[in-house]
Amino acid sequence: MSDDDARRQQIDLYGDTVASIAQQAHGILGVPPGELADLIGLSEPMLGALVSGTRVRIGNQIAIGRLVQLQELIVNVRNGLTPTGDVSLALAQIRASTLPAVPGAVTHPAAHAAAAGPGSGGAAPFAAPRSGPQQTPPYLPPGSPAPAPGSPGAVPAPGAAPSSGGGTPPLLSATSLGYARSVVARHVPTTPTYRWPLLEQLTGTETWVKHENHTPIGAFKVRGGLNFVERLRVSGTRPPGLISATRGNHGQSLAFAGRAYGLPITIVVPEGNSPDKNVAITAMGAELIVHGADFQAAAEHAAALAAQRNLMMVPPFHPWLVEGVATAAAELHEQVPGLDVVYVPVGMGSGICAQIAVRDLLGARTEVVGVVAANAPAYARSVAAGRPISTESADTFVDGVACRTPDPHAVAVIRAGASRILEVSEEAAAEAMALMYRTTHNLAEPAGSLALAGLLADRARVGGRRVAIVHTGGNCDHDVLEHAFS
Ligand SMILES: Cc1ncc(COP(=O)(O)O)c(C=O)c1O
Repeated sequence: MSDDDARRQQIDLYGDTVASIAQQAHGILGVPPGELADLIGLSEPMLGALVSGTRVRIGNQIAIGRLVQLQELIVNVRNGLTPTGDVSLALAQIRASTLPAVPGAVTHPAAHAAAAGPGSGGAAPFAAPRSGPQQTPPYLPPGSPAPAPGSPGAVPAPGAAPSSGGGTPPLLSATSLGYARSVVARHVPTTPTYRWPLLEQLTGTETWVKHENHTPIGAFKVRGGLNFVERLRVSGTRPPGLISATRGNHGQSLAFAGRAYGLPITIVVPEGNSPDKNVAITAMGAELIVHGADFQAAAEHAAALAAQRNLMMVPPFHPWLVEGVATAAAELHEQVPGLDVVYVPVGMGSGICAQIAVRDLLGARTEVVGVVAANAPAYARSVAAGRPISTESADTFVDGVACRTPDPHAVAVIRAGASRILEVSEEAAAEAMALMYRTTHNLAEPAGSLALAGLLADRARVGGRRVAIVHTGGNCDHDVLEHAFS
């Protein structure tokens, strides 16, 4: 770099601006004064020189970038745009940020004084808010410093009371979604969303398929597992291992995340579970235990083992799982602006709740339509009744949505935010698998084509509208494929 370039890339900082940020970072975000230098990546003497100087020219653009983000965070918390519950996440994101400040972005506070809004305490923005996609922080290995539990914004413990639905605060904020996107993006590239002309001949309308069958585990669930484990790490919780019961993709998701973070995973599946999903789980290094006649029995066994082995039990529905899965919904809205309707299968509800939460966060008008298997109607009945209603059985070959006992939180969110829940017969679900293959040459497991089955059932209603279906997974045993294709 020439001397001229180096000079151009230096930025003027004003002592009163930095002092004001330091003061508000302490008062509003709870950052102890002794930790600010470390947070932004400057030495204590350098920070001291900045605070006390009138105008200092520095070239550490990453540190300045972090200061800019810190000031944005202060403004957002003050305006209520970032909930205080998200502050620790946002601080972790700033600490990991390597996004340099743009030369010229920083001006003297006097230039902004007039722009400072009411209640801003007279503090001026440090720089204009940046727009554009969320940056991806570098990989933070497990064991790297995490905010202390109980610090501002400490995250809810798994199994803690739900945080949204039925008039409670929303499941997502721009900060938590941005953080989840940066976490998931380290492992899951954006999945494609395509229109397939042959498929559109069947649906009779503009139809976008969100291909979540193209994640590293072949299903959307991986997003939730990654976010769950990262949230644990950031919360400072270090269980000796995680345990969960599953019919398949949730288990693969945790196994994938556990391997990425070095956290032992135990997965309990019922007898007769998909052999392909079972071997995929063990191939990722998780311990697989086969127990019980159905999911309920497997879940009870998992709970008993959790107590015996001091493992943390991961529920099938949890806000952190929703947050992770919401990254797919966020991608979808970016890929297809102005969506009229999105169809999504409903098992325990993380996928549909994520669609609702992202739609609401974006202020979009997209209708969210849930699809269940007619032989596993617990969510359809619960949403209609406005309270969780369990069913005696969930006897369906659509294993990804074979739910008997709905989660109350999910029911509340779906009832408040979904347009309707469709019930699809076993035959229609099998036919949709075959149609998905014939029109796109993508394999779908039964739940993976349930959204298509819902759209086909709803065809008369959505003609002329811009529609998306979520192809949630392609992990299908050979005999199930044969059954569907026959
Ligand atoms: C392929 C597939 N689709 C849909 C679902 C249902 O998702 P959710 O439980 O988030 O409603 C699952 C659940 O595991 C799944 O594996």
